[in-house]
Order: sequence, then C-alpha cells, then structure tokens
Amino acid sequence: MTKLGVGVIGVGRMGRRHAENLRSLVPRAKLIALADVDLQAARRVADELEIEHSYDRLEALLERKDIEAVVIASPSKLHLSAVQMAAAAGKHILCEKPLALTLDGVDAAIRAARDAKVLLQIGFMRRYDPAYAAALCRIEAGEIGTPIIFRSIGRDREPPPLSFYQSGSGSLFLDSSIHEFDLARWLMTDEVAEVHAFGGTLACPEVAQFGEFDAGMVNLRFVHGAIGNVESLRQSRYGYDIYTEIVGSKATLRIGYLRQTALTSLSSDGVSHDVVDHFLVRFAEAYLNEVRDFVANVATGSEPRVTGKDARRALAIALAADQSCRDSASVRVKDERQAATML
Ligand SMILES: NC(=O)c1ccc[n+]([C@@H]2O[C@H](COP(=O)([O-])OP(=O)(O)OC[C@H]3O[C@@H](n4cnc5c(N)ncnc54)[C@H](O)[C@@H]3O)[C@@H](O)[C@H]2O)c1
Repeated sequence: MTKLGVGVIGVGRMGRRHAENLRSLVPRAKLIALADVDLQAARRVADELEIEHSYDRLEALLERKDIEAVVIASPSKLHLSAVQMAAAAGKHILCEKPLALTLDGVDAAIRAARDAKVLLQIGFMRRYDPAYAAALCRIEAGEIGTPIIFRSIGRDREPPPLSFYQSGSGSLFLDSSIHEFDLARWLMTDEVAEVHAFGGTLACPEVAQFGEFDAGMVNLRFVHGAIGNVESLRQSRYGYDIYTEIVGSKATLRIGYLRQTALTSLSSDGVSHDVVDHFLVRFAEAYLNEVRDFVANVATGSEPRVTGKDARRALAIALAADQSCRDSASVRVKDERQAATML
C-alpha cells in the first residue's frame, strides 16, 4: 500500500493530537514532518513521536516533495495564509476551524484550493463523532419528523491559556460557538437566517484585557422557520460538557454525556462519578475518524464531508452573532437563502 506523505503545521494542543493520530493510527498515512514557529516545540513532539523532520518555517515543510498533504493547526488568524501557501505548493489540506476570520478570507482560501486542484477539508470534527453521525442518520431517515428546535451547549472545564487569546483565535463565537453553528445547519438540514446574541466576560475576568467574551448565548431562526439556541462557556469548572438536542415533530434526539467512565460510587456522602474533562478526551474518536477520512478522501479523490462552503456558512453565523452583540439587535445572516439552495 502506498502511504500518503503528510506534514502537520502547528503542534500545540490540536496539532499534536493530529500528529499522534497520523503517526500511529492511520495506516494509509506516513507522517513525515512537523512545522511550528516554536522550533523547540516542533523538535520535542518530533522526538516523542519519532518523526525525523521538524522545521520552524512552514515553507521548509511545503518544499518537501514527499509531503502530499498537510494538516493546518496553527493559530486561526494564520489559516488563510497557510492554506494559500499549501495550495500553491500542491498539497491537499485538512484545515482546523475556522478556515479564516472573515468571509473574504474564507472565499480566498476556497479559491486557492480550487485553483490548485487540491482537496480542502475543514476540521468540524463533531460530524465524525459516532453519536452525532447516528443522529444525522435518524434525522435523514425521517425518524424525528420535521426538526423544530435546535439546542446546543458547549462548555469547557477550564479556559484556554491566555497565550491562546493573544495568538489571534477569533472571538468566542468564531472560535468556540462555531462548532455549534456547524452542527445547527448540519443537523437541522437548514440554514440559519437570523441570530440574536448576548455575551459577557463573566467567568474569567483575566480574559477582559483581550476584549473577549467568555460566555455567549445565541438565539437562532432558521430559513424554513425552525428556531434554536446555542450556549458557549469557557469555564464550567465541573467538566467539558457538550450537549445537543434536536426536537422534531415526531421525536427528540439528545446527544451528549458527562460521565467518562462507567463507574459510579454510592456512599453516605452521596453518588459520584468522574466527568469528561477535555475536548481531546470527548472527541478522541472523532479526531481520529476525521483524519482517517481526510487521508481516504485524498487517496480516492472524494469530496470531503466538511467543505469550504460549510466553513463559510458557519463563519457567517458567527460573524452575525458578533455583530448582534455589538449592535444589541438581531442580525440577519448573510446570503442565507442562496446558501439554503446549495444544500
Ligand atoms: N477542532 C477542534 O476541536 C479544535 C480544538 C482546539 C483548537 N482548534 C483549532 O486548532 C488551531 C490551533 O489551536 P490550539 O488550541 O492547538 O492552539 P495552540 O496555541 O495550542 O497551538 C498553536 C501552535 O501553532 C504554533 N504556531 C504559531 N504560529 C505558527 C506559524 N506561523 N506556523 C506554524 N506554527 C505556528 C504555535 O507555536 C503553537 O505551537 C486553532 O485554529 C483552533 O481553532 C480546534
């Protein structure tokens, strides 16, 4: 079997996980090199994973002929330039969310990949989670009837390090709620037409210096009349809590769990069990499925499950939520009718 040569760009929290998966759990891929501006970090991860090549410049990785595909996990504000450079070098791309921080940026990234005839897949990994994937199958089979209400909660146990805010990750809506926005349009098989958002810096006062919210609530109206609500919180303290509900005209689906291990302690102090504590734990299987699918898509030339258009639609909702907070008013999502016809 010919293996696909892959490079990983950015080896922080997310890039490291992609590198670990590619190194040992994706038989059809060969992880060849890592690149990170922090050369020490790139070398450390390369040593741990026994990867021969590590660079502090993305260009050096892209020059390698034996690398046919890259995973981009650098800070979000750098995604667009990384996609453009990788596409120009003829590399297929799995890019972490968000694809870019503006709609023009997303369009430029999509254009770059299209012009270079390389595959562009986006890292909305929840679509690869078995429970979310099973929910979509049931919805598509008509089991819940017409979807009426979408609700989704995304709470981190602890906020990301302050360096994350400095790196240009986008607002809470662009960085975190965007997963919920992608789920909303995917599971409701509809586009979001209008949002009304509220946000505040309520749980982590240290985030205020970056002008960022750590808590957000967004009401949604879909093109075909359904309604929804998305909550995002940077610090729950009790665990990583991802919970989604789709209420249909015939049935309701609930996706999510808090308990990591099937062990419950019952004593005079009460009932206790452990709690999922991190996205790398809750979505471990999804990240692996995602990168395996990327490698398979490159090998077969198949259209990715999560495309540049999906990145654009989710970003449009996130940008509308940002604007809604700023203006303290409901905001229509750009181009929703046109996008609905593209589904
Ligand atoms: N899909 C998910 O569930 C998920 C979860 C977390 C993060 N992410 C995304 O992954 C990306 C990285 O997030 P993170 O949490 O891993 O951040 P991080 O800060 O932990 O890691 C970013 C890494 O990129 C490196 N870097 C900075 N500039 C670079 C450059 N020019 N070239 C190469 N590397 C560079 C940094 O040194 C750092 O090692 C973000 O876009 C974020 O939105 C996705």
